[in-house]
Amino acid sequence: MEELREDRPVDHVAALARARSPEPPGPDTPAGGPVRTWPGPMCPLPPAGPADLDLGALLRHSLAAADASGRLRPVPSAGALHPVDTELVVGAGCSLPPGRYGYDPLRHRVHPVGPQPEGTPPGVTAELSVTARRTASHYGHRAWPLLLLDTGHAAAALCLAARALGTGEPELRLDGLAEGPLAAVHIPPPGGRDGPAHRAGGRGQAHPDGGARAPDLPGGPPTPAELLARRSTPPPMPGVPSRDALRAVLTTAERAGTRDLRWCAAVGPPRPALVALSADGTTLRRHAAGEARPTLAVWAAGQAWIADAGAVLLAHGCPADADTAHIRRAHLRAGFAVHLAHVTALRHGLAARPVGSWQQADLGAALGAAPDRDWVVHGLALGTRHADEENTT
Ligand SMILES: Cc1cc2nc3c(=O)[nH]c(=O)nc-3n(C[C@H](O)[C@H](O)[C@H](O)COP(=O)(O)O)c2cc1C
Repeated sequence: MEELREDRPVDHVAALARARSPEPPGPDTPAGGPVRTWPGPMCPLPPAGPADLDLGALLRHSLAAADASGRLRPVPSAGALHPVDTELVVGAGCSLPPGRYGYDPLRHRVHPVGPQPEGTPPGVTAELSVTARRTASHYGHRAWPLLLLDTGHAAAALCLAARALGTGEPELRLDGLAEGPLAAVHIPPPGGRDGPAHRAGGRGQAHPDGGARAPDLPGGPPTPAELLARRSTPPPMPGVPSRDALRAVLTTAERAGTRDLRWCAAVGPPRPALVALSADGTTLRRHAAGEARPTLAVWAAGQAWIADAGAVLLAHGCPADADTAHIRRAHLRAGFAVHLAHVTALRHGLAARPVGSWQQADLGAALGAAPDRDWVVHGLALGTRHADEENTT
């Protein structure tokens, strides 16, 4: 799949159809550099003034690599390949002077790359794009859905860091309308748009992208330590989560998703089933009876451990005739929502690991509905940490 290796624009409709097919990826290819090569000098992120948005802290709690190899980050990534690149459009009220900057997550430094556009609102807009080659180096033609999911996770990590640091209200652009950047998160300085830090820079200015408000994490904002501690639990992860925990995870996902996506969870014995939230969101209802996990393991690139996970949260939808914007939006939102669901699961003491590569995963057809209407888009494997915590549903 040459266009992936070379980072050319992609026909998402064809790319998704091929990623969903049983065709196996070829051998690994070179991933290229682990971060985008930004032009110009590299600058540290300076300490923040008392009323400023602390960009160093924001990035440290969302996208910065935690060790020199760059593999441990607050945000997960398919294959730990971290394809998301971040440009910061900085307005008034931030710990960097206004301008456009490229972010290097390995060195936790920025490269000034240009002036801020006219009308830049106070705070920062993180524009997210991808270097497809990194993910394609391992996943080949299966990479595009993963790239979009990864971008959604990165947007969620920025929103959670903003909440943990008490900035102004984050706003999201995950509408799937643009190829570049794929997504954007606008974060105002502390105190919101009308806070003291803004007054010099344009009080009450609307965000140019008209972004959507980022959903809250049920149970209150995360702590900075909680974000830095997040990891994907290594498999196996047996043990059916309690109904309360499953309900919390499903509620988080539903609130953070989009109308394009539906959510359910496959649970194991003693009463294996697909469960979903009731219409009023207060209880779990049975979406379908029967054991789905072995089929999910086959659909998820044959990852056998998924058959023994206590439960698997599934985002589904995105029919085969979805257009480019719909495909982008569904995958960006699924990544965003699974990230919040992951943090919620960890809060409930669960083991959790995103699962992003799905082939022939036509859930609707498997449940007897029309084919090609209801495909698995993303997943989160769940379990209890200790056998004695296992609970039945
Ligand atoms: C979009 C996405 C898809 C993923 N898919 C899988 C998967 O199919 N199987 C798996 O074991 N881990 C999967 N992961 C988890 C990554 O392997 C994990 O995030 C990465 O190794 C970094 O580890 P960490 O999350 O503990 O920081 C996925 C993560 C993301 C963000």
